[in-house]
Amino acid sequence: MVSAMPRGIGCIVDRLPCSFELDTLSPVLGAFSSKSERTLSDLAGQFLDAAAYERALAEGDRLVYVVYQSTGSGQAGDLDYGLTVLWPGKIGNEYWMTKGHYHHVLETSEVYYCLQGTGYMVMEDISGHWAVEKLASARGLYVAPGWAHRMVNVGNVPLAALYVCPSHAGHDYHTIETRGFRKLIVEQGGAPAIIDNPRWQGCRR
Ligand SMILES: [Fe+2]
Repeated sequence: MVSAMPRGIGCIVDRLPCSFELDTLSPVLGAFSSKSERTLSDLAGQFLDAAAYERALAEGDRLVYVVYQSTGSGQAGDLDYGLTVLWPGKIGNEYWMTKGHYHHVLETSEVYYCLQGTGYMVMEDISGHWAVEKLASARGLYVAPGWAHRMVNVGNVPLAALYVCPSHAGHDYHTIETRGFRKLIVEQGGAPAIIDNPRWQGCRR
């Protein structure tokens, strides 16, 4: 880093410009403020095949995904960014996925840039509209305000994506944990397919 500006002087928030490496499987931790690891047990109740989930969990609480986070000030005008790395796997015929979330501040959006792997971003809004967009290396994705979002890995290698969102957006995981997503991504005939989630509890509003 090269900077002539002392921390906190003349800045709206207490952060300085910086750059960072994006080696997807071993990112430079110094560029990120924290690392969150999510294992199978963190995804309890999210997979459709409950018996397959219990069998998988009995074999070990495996690591499903890691989020390297540079969390900002939490103020409007600042940005959070980070790297999500989602390992490949299936529970029954349903591909491994992230927990998924709405933003607490629904009026906030997010951009993803996929660095490696193959998958989908499953999205839905508070009125029940849904969208599924492909994630692949060098492909970007825009999550519009008010849309919940979840990454799904349908490939054989880790799915890695950079994310950038407003620092005051916040995460609402509870809505998805209790209501689920309207659509699921499963393997059918050797290929990914979008199916209705029979346990979906309806849209948030
Ligand atoms: Fe988000």
